[in-house]
Amino acid sequence: MKLVALHGPNLNLLGTREPDVYGSQTLEDINAAMRAWAERAGVDIEIYQTNHEGELVEAIHRAGRDADGLVVNPGALTHYSYAVRDAIAAISIPVVEAHLSNIHAREAFRSVSVTAAVATGIVSGFGARSYILALEALKARIAGD
Ligand code: DQA
Repeated sequence: MKLVALHGPNLNLLGTREPDVYGSQTLEDINAAMRAWAERAGVDIEIYQTNHEGELVEAIHRAGRDADGLVVNPGALTHYSYAVRDAIAAISIPVVEAHLSNIHAREAFRSVSVTAAVATGIVSGFGARSYILALEALKARIAGD
């Protein structure tokens, strides 16, 4: 089983970016935790971060061709990118949308996710653990558990 995890804009700054909201773990810490989970779970994982909407769209297309499932945190693009939404809608693998923070407990604009309706499901509010929970859910969905 091959899974892909994608991080959108500004997530490269985790660790120093608003640590009261996003925690003190760096993106590399989170990626290391995902790789360790994947090793234990016996799945292949590919991880990618971009600050660019078009690159995220292309990475979603690639995942749709090459992978069995996708975890994506589109960052702020979650709230307004119809291009990211359409990319998710265009692929046929399961997609879990993950957020470190609870997007429904913050500013009003963050409680709108234009991508959630085309995802298989969402995990939001568990900090770095959101990614692991998303991977677990994805693996179970793909395995038919
Ligand atoms: C985020 C929430 C978004 O509102 C924000 O723009 C991010 C991170 C999260 O993981 O909690 O960049 O997606």
